[in-house]
Amino acid sequence: MKIDPWSSTTYQDYTRLRKEFGIQEFSKDLWKDLPHPHRLLRRDIIFGHRGFELIYEAIRKKKPWAILTGLMPSGKMHLGHKMVIDEVIYYQSIGADIFIAVADIEAFATRGYTLEETKELALNEYIPNYIALGLKPENCRIYFQSKHQDVKDLAYILGKKVNWSQMIATYGFDNSANMTHIFSPLVQTGDILHVQLEKYGGVRPTLVPVGVDQDPHIRLSRDIAQAHRLYNVTVTKDNKIGVFVKVDTEIEKLLDNAEKILHQLQFNDLKRITDYKAIYIQKATKEDIPKIDEFLAKSEVKFGGYGFILPSATFHRFITGLTGEKMSSSKPESAIFLTESPQEARRKIMNAKTGGAVTLKEQKKHGGNPSDCMIYELFLYHLIEDDKELKDIYKSCKKGEQMCGICKKYAAECMEKLLLKIQEKRKTAEKKVKQYLS
Ligand code: TRP
Ligand code: SF4
Repeated sequence: MKIDPWSSTTYQDYTRLRKEFGIQEFSKDLWKDLPHPHRLLRRDIIFGHRGFELIYEAIRKKKPWAILTGLMPSGKMHLGHKMVIDEVIYYQSIGADIFIAVADIEAFATRGYTLEETKELALNEYIPNYIALGLKPENCRIYFQSKHQDVKDLAYILGKKVNWSQMIATYGFDNSANMTHIFSPLVQTGDILHVQLEKYGGVRPTLVPVGVDQDPHIRLSRDIAQAHRLYNVTVTKDNKIGVFVKVDTEIEKLLDNAEKILHQLQFNDLKRITDYKAIYIQKATKEDIPKIDEFLAKSEVKFGGYGFILPSATFHRFITGLTGEKMSSSKPESAIFLTESPQEARRKIMNAKTGGAVTLKEQKKHGGNPSDCMIYELFLYHLIEDDKELKDIYKSCKKGEQMCGICKKYAAECMEKLLLKIQEKRKTAEKKVKQYLS
């Protein structure tokens, strides 16, 4: 199995995806103590993560952290696109610095849009919707890949430690792939890692909230971040914690520096073996690694390194389209667009695929199947905030007490409220776009 970020596959078996790619489960322990956890976190829609523990720690200890995500405009913005920005707005409300990349280079390379067209879509469609949904201008920068010199520089420079076979293994490129396309994952790595440059807030935990189709980019960015580190902290074969210098210049100085940092962290029982470029810490455990690593990372900058902390990521499931296939701008019946009229949305909802039985009689007897129902998905992802109300719908559907007709009408009403609210706010949003662009 391969995850292809540029295909339009829908993924059914998320547990299998997790296992196959070593994605961690996004368990309750990771979100239950966050401030007012967002419904997408509570409802297992975000089903997996890499390295979210670092973010959790930063939030709990009130240390700085950042969000970086990107959008590749593809037609009009619909409910599927809304999820990432809902997450971003939540994280902004709990203190993250926000960065949003408009992936115009990628859209040009992979979707056949011109940079100009992408710009139009971003400025007139996506960003105003983000603002209407509640994104605030404070601590928030939106930028275009093609205009961001530091991002592009990083893409070139960091690419030094990626070779062609790694790119083939990760993306399955073949001989016909064009060079701009091949290069676009490096630009995305530039997006993800640039926020840790001094100029943009420095070395700190960074979370990339994305759909699971983006996991290849996440793996690549994490590999690249790791490859550029000067230190590596790990468990050794004989179960000790070791700090290793990965480069061949300034070894003594780097070891001195690590020793000093370890002392500051109260690790005093150290064994330094310069020939191995190593310091072994006698009384440390696996749990100490992230903290040690964070302090070492920050110190790498003064030795000319980047000190990137591995970027963390969360992965969400995709909302199914109203027709049962993927929600996609190219199939208008499958999607509800944020700029759509409530009447049009209602019509699509009334035609949507449900988990209802073939006849009313059947449904009363055996109940419906909310787990395979687009209306229920609308409630779950977007329309119902109250967990208890959602649960009640689930139960009464299962028991055959809730009928699809009434259920659809209720969904249409909720959708109307949501759309009107967004559209009202959009009226002033367009004038505010400039405040968000860096
Ligand atoms: N590749 C993403 C997409 O297809 C867009 C993107 C560009 C992105 N840069 C990013 C996503 C950085 C997350 C982080 O939608
Ligand atoms: Fe879906 Fe509602 Fe019908 Fe149940 S009653 S199958 S939740 S539309």
